[in-house]
Amino acid sequence: MAVHQFDAVIVGAGGAGLMAALQASQSARIAVLSKLYPTRSHTGTAQGGIGAALGNLETDTWEWHMFDTVKGGDYLVDQDAAEIMCREAVDTVYELEHMGLPFSRTPDGKIAQRPFGGHTKEFGKAPVRRSCYAADRTGHMILQTLYQQCIKQGVTFFDEYHVVDLLTRDGAACGVVAVEIATGDLHVFHAKAVLFATGGCGRMYKITSNALTLTGDGMAVVGRRGIPLEDMEFFQFHPTGIYKMGILITEGARGEGGILRNGKGERFMEKYTPTLKDLAPRDMVSRAIFREVREGRGIDGKDYVHLDLTHLDPKVIREKLPDITDFVETYLGIDPSRAPIPIQPTAHYAMGGIPTNARAEVVADEKNTVFPGLYAAGECACVSVHGANRLGTNSLVDIIVFGRRGGKQVGEFVKKASFTPLPEKPLEQTEARFAALKREGGGESVFEIRKDLQEEMMDKASVFRTEPDLTKMLQIIGDLKSRYSKIHVKDRGTGYNMELLEAFELGCLLDLAQATVTSALARQESRGAHYREDFPKRDDANWLKHTLAKINGQRVTLSYKPVSITKFQPQERKY
Ligand code: FUM
Repeated sequence: MAVHQFDAVIVGAGGAGLMAALQASQSARIAVLSKLYPTRSHTGTAQGGIGAALGNLETDTWEWHMFDTVKGGDYLVDQDAAEIMCREAVDTVYELEHMGLPFSRTPDGKIAQRPFGGHTKEFGKAPVRRSCYAADRTGHMILQTLYQQCIKQGVTFFDEYHVVDLLTRDGAACGVVAVEIATGDLHVFHAKAVLFATGGCGRMYKITSNALTLTGDGMAVVGRRGIPLEDMEFFQFHPTGIYKMGILITEGARGEGGILRNGKGERFMEKYTPTLKDLAPRDMVSRAIFREVREGRGIDGKDYVHLDLTHLDPKVIREKLPDITDFVETYLGIDPSRAPIPIQPTAHYAMGGIPTNARAEVVADEKNTVFPGLYAAGECACVSVHGANRLGTNSLVDIIVFGRRGGKQVGEFVKKASFTPLPEKPLEQTEARFAALKREGGGESVFEIRKDLQEEMMDKASVFRTEPDLTKMLQIIGDLKSRYSKIHVKDRGTGYNMELLEAFELGCLLDLAQATVTSALARQESRGAHYREDFPKRDDANWLKHTLAKINGQRVTLSYKPVSITKFQPQERKY
């Protein structure tokens, strides 16, 4: 067994992991472990921008940004954390600029900003230009910039090391177990602190903007060690995924003036959200699209609508939206300046995840008790700054602000902390898990179970939900888990055994789907992205609280904790 020792280990090399590594490595020996080559991380697919009240094109304030974030999140946002995020967004964007990030520019050389869904001026009066962008490649630029900075600073990377277990002892984190993908060897990383920044779990749905690798490993690995997962019922569907493929077409396209049209050619968002129209928050736009389709106003009566950019200046499309132009040409053979783009809502973002405080410390119970040595940041974490529905651009703000805060905190922690000894048999759980997946005689295939999970989740636990559907879905997950226990990985090799690792990932998705559906079934109200047709109203009297879902083997048990409300009392959500 190979054992490595570092002051801290960061799991994941997207924006949150790299930002944390940059900070922590200033004072500590850090290793970054990633199942991918770092610049292939999913941050690289974020398109339309990072929100910050720079006020480069019109007056803007962090208070308005905070208000929009809280209202967009349907008041489930922890407002103390949202205040930190919206205040610090401004400095972190300038920090990225000073690192060399090539933002698009205004004619007078400032960082360019565009409107985005749910971002407004004067507490909801009209859209505001807040999203700082680098064409429609903002995440790509953030990722490249941070990776270059990490290399410059000499951060140690273990690329293509897939973390499969968290090690704890005496109630503290003390390391992780990782598979070296090239060889199949197991490695133990012994550390004083572990920070998870492993991204989301959108691959539990059939239509998703998420890369193949977004299987929620970090959330599942932490959840299996007894930390309850927070607010898993809130899963965001981005309104504009390419029809049938789910590939993201940035909200920036609507920020630049794009319009959604139904099968009758109507600009239907005027009817649902008259003030913000096509730039309403994503939960509302996705529901509106589903409604149009259900009521027979999809294109040719089918299950999609159009995103129309044909009225925009082709120069704007070419210069500000080059990547989506390329996607649409490549995958659909369409020139977006001449023909509308067929789109449908696509599973995009988990608002829930590993519960943390605003220092990115993982908190393990209803009283927010800190789990020593354990940290999380980015999509795998739930701070909770997005509440029941994240605003576009706030994921990039979240990874940068809380990645940075987490890295700083880790740096401070390891200065004072000593190494907690490793458990006596650190590989015990991993070896048992992998032996079960490799055992002879099973016969079930990873691919079939995953396909069934994704199709059923799409059908029964996506934009619209009901008690019968969610109950049925829980039963299906039980059946899929029992099929999973009979899985047979045919590849007997060690190096690049992707079938084995995909089987591991599927186990994570099944646990997370169970936490999602159990939490969704219990929450008898509609809030943000969680829309219960049988309970269509928000119910603050009973449900203004965070869900905590604990994974206990085959069962998920629920408890709740209060929401932090500081500046903005819950109001009706009209746009
Ligand atoms: O539409 C987009 O460009 C996505 C941004 C986001 O999810 O924040």
